Formats: sequence, C-alpha cells, structure tokens
Amino acid sequence: MVRKVTANVYMTLDGRGAFPKYPGSERPSRKPTALFRHMWIARYDDVTTVVMGRRSFLGHRRVWSGKARKPSDPPYQVDYSRFLDRVDKVCLSRSLKSPGWENTRMLKGDLTRVLARLRREKGGNIIVEGGPRVSQEVLSRRLADDYWFFVMPVVYGRGPRYWGPMREQNTLKLLETKHGEDGEILLHYETVR
Ligand SMILES: NC(=O)c1ccc[n+]([C@@H]2O[C@H](COP(=O)([O-])OP(=O)(O)OC[C@H]3O[C@@H](n4cnc5c(N)ncnc54)[C@H](OP(=O)(O)O)[C@@H]3O)[C@@H](O)[C@H]2O)c1
Repeated sequence: MVRKVTANVYMTLDGRGAFPKYPGSERPSRKPTALFRHMWIARYDDVTTVVMGRRSFLGHRRVWSGKARKPSDPPYQVDYSRFLDRVDKVCLSRSLKSPGWENTRMLKGDLTRVLARLRREKGGNIIVEGGPRVSQEVLSRRLADDYWFFVMPVVYGRGPRYWGPMREQNTLKLLETKHGEDGEILLHYETVR
C-alpha cells in the first residue's frame, strides 16, 4: 500500500502560522466541531503516523497526551488523546534528547529524505501536523500528496509565514471545502503530479 502524506496547515487569512483568538474560537465545547470530526475523528483508522516539528510536538504532548487529560474532559478529547498516544509519532529535532511520550521516534535531517523513508515503511497514512516551520518546508518543496488548510478568519500580521519562495510551482486540485462554526474554512487540495 502506498502511504499518503497529508499536511495539516493551520493558518490565518494572511498565511501566518499562529493561533489567534477570534469570536467563538475558544467556545467551550463538549462535542467535537464538524471540522474536528472531519480532520481527525474520521481519520483515526487510516492514519498511523503523525509527524511534528519539535515545538509542535512539545505543545501537543503538553496539551493532548493522555496524561494531560482530566476526568471532566469530554469523551471526544479523551479519544483524541488515546489516538495520539497510540499512533506512531515522529518528532523532528536536533536538540531534544528524549521525547517523553510513548510511541515516539526522534528523526532529523533533510525533510524530503525523512518523509521518503517513512513512506517506504509499512503502515497507513501519514499526517504532518506542523508546526509552521515544518509545514512551510513541506509546502515549498511540494512534499505532501494533499493539504488541509484550516484558514482562520483573522488577518493577523505577525507570526511565521507560510507563503514565500517556492522551488517550483505547485499546482493543486481542489477536492472539497467546508465551513467551520466560527468562520473558519477548510480547503482540501491534492497535489497534481
Ligand atoms: N499554526 C500552527 O499550526 C502552529 C503549530 C505549532 C506552533 N505554532 C507556533 O509557531 C511558532 C513557531 O513554531 P515552529 O514553526 O518553529 O515549530 P515546529 O515546526 O513545530 O518546530 C521547529 C523545530 O522542529 C525541528 N525541526 C524541524 N525540521 C527538522 C528537521 N528536518 N530535522 C530536525 N529537526 C527539525 C527543529 O527543532 P530543534 O531546534 O530541536 O532542532 C526546529 O527548531 C511557535 O511559537 C508556536 O507557538 C503554530
């Protein structure tokens, strides 16, 4: 089976890698949003590897590992943490000594080679879950088979930029669009090879 590489890219309308506050963005939710269902819950079965840069990894470990869950958390958050605990995680880093999260490998080096190596391994699909520096490299080198752009309704003006010089044009095919409850738009594109 060919392992598909999907990049999840969370961006402001002006293409910045940040998580700004906007009306509704921090609404306490006992149930998953439709976009969360689509981006994660629907993919628990076919995704077996999640790749993150060191900062994104440490942020996820702090907020989303099973150890971070509290008894009062809604069941969907517990399920998401269970998924992240069990999935094969790849933390990209040259500085972190030990991941401190089960089922995690530390890898480093050229991202094209790292992803090619993962594709050759047995397993299901692969998600590259940021952070911005890693996503930017995936975008500029055209490393993913498809992209899920989660666009927040904010022109932010600061934070890491996703758009910049490209090695070559990346032509994409739009597969679907979805609207979030708080004005977000999910754009799902596939790379045209
Ligand atoms: N919008 C979003 O999706 C999002 C997500 C996460 C974070 N953020 C925010 O964005 C800011 C910047 O985050 P970031 O882009 O620097 O985070 P990141 O991409 O998660 O982490 C960058 C780190 O990953 C490691 N790395 C990346 N590529 C590597 C490779 N090929 N080989 C080895 N190590 C590699 C390096 O770690 P070492 O220094 O250890 O070598 C590098 O410093 C943060 O302040 C964060 O709050 C935004």
